[in-house]
Amino acid sequence: MGITRRSMLRAGLAGVIAAPLVPAGESPAGRRGGFRIAHLTDIHVQPERESAKGLAQCLAHVQSLPDRGGGPPVDMIVTGGDTIMDCMEAGRDRAQVQWDLWRKVKTDHCSLEVKSVVGNHDVWGWTKAKSGVTGAEPLYGKQWACEQFGRQLPYDSFDRGGWHIVLLDSVFPHEQSYVGKLDDAQWDWLERDLAAVPTATPVLVVSHIPILSVHPLAAAAANGGAGSDGKPAFSLSGGLVHVDHDRFQRLFARHRNVKACLSGHLHIIEQIDYGGVRYLCNGAVSAGWWKGPHGGTDFGYAVIDLFDDGTLACDYRTYGWTARG
Ligand SMILES: [Fe+2]
Repeated sequence: MGITRRSMLRAGLAGVIAAPLVPAGESPAGRRGGFRIAHLTDIHVQPERESAKGLAQCLAHVQSLPDRGGGPPVDMIVTGGDTIMDCMEAGRDRAQVQWDLWRKVKTDHCSLEVKSVVGNHDVWGWTKAKSGVTGAEPLYGKQWACEQFGRQLPYDSFDRGGWHIVLLDSVFPHEQSYVGKLDDAQWDWLERDLAAVPTATPVLVVSHIPILSVHPLAAAAANGGAGSDGKPAFSLSGGLVHVDHDRFQRLFARHRNVKACLSGHLHIIEQIDYGGVRYLCNGAVSAGWWKGPHGGTDFGYAVIDLFDDGTLACDYRTYGWTARG
């Protein structure tokens, strides 16, 4: 039986929740410092449920984290996609209201540099039957999100704190919905981008849809099902995890300086070490779309410390929000 992320959200399935392997702010060798990112994913800001207040409270929490012994509490915010509640199914007015809300809260409540990846809910109008969009609009698809994020392309990379950080666009059209993957042009760009990074420079990759996750397996197991040979079988949606994971694994095997991949999308907390890479899915600022905790995951965000020695620490922090009507 196939399952969708929406059905998982309805079911409130708990994710794989693991304690941080290393406390944020301290490397395995006990050294402090490094470059600190707050990873805020799946914000889903909307006019309802006082989500703008919730986001403002989250941003205030990030900017008041305890001092690390010099420098700001956090160096940068990276948003992990699904910035707004949804514009894939929304008309122009509803999309405009949500993007205006995001920009206002960010302007009024955030003094940090913000970098963003595109989530499926940030893509305007692909579900044409519901959005009423023709596809000819200049802001159709990812263009509106790119405009909001101040970029020409929905993917990017940059260097900070001795690390190379890659922001991927993992959402591509499938019928009137989406699938998790990169297209040929982005694969070409990514391979050239990593080839240009010195081997001694650690790399952090950020995508919306996880490049690898065990959560779809757990959700499929909860759903039951059987294969044609009578043995139990899983059918996993390509909307839940990157369908091109194998190509990532082969690429990362050629670039052992890729240390970790951050994601969102599933609204769960998950930490996997696989093939020498850490895959960290970091919950959701909105938890279960602002309605309350999603399974075992509360409203929160992750603090990521990137150390000079190529190690990193990841710690999920709640910010004290509870669901509002
Ligand atoms: Fe989401």
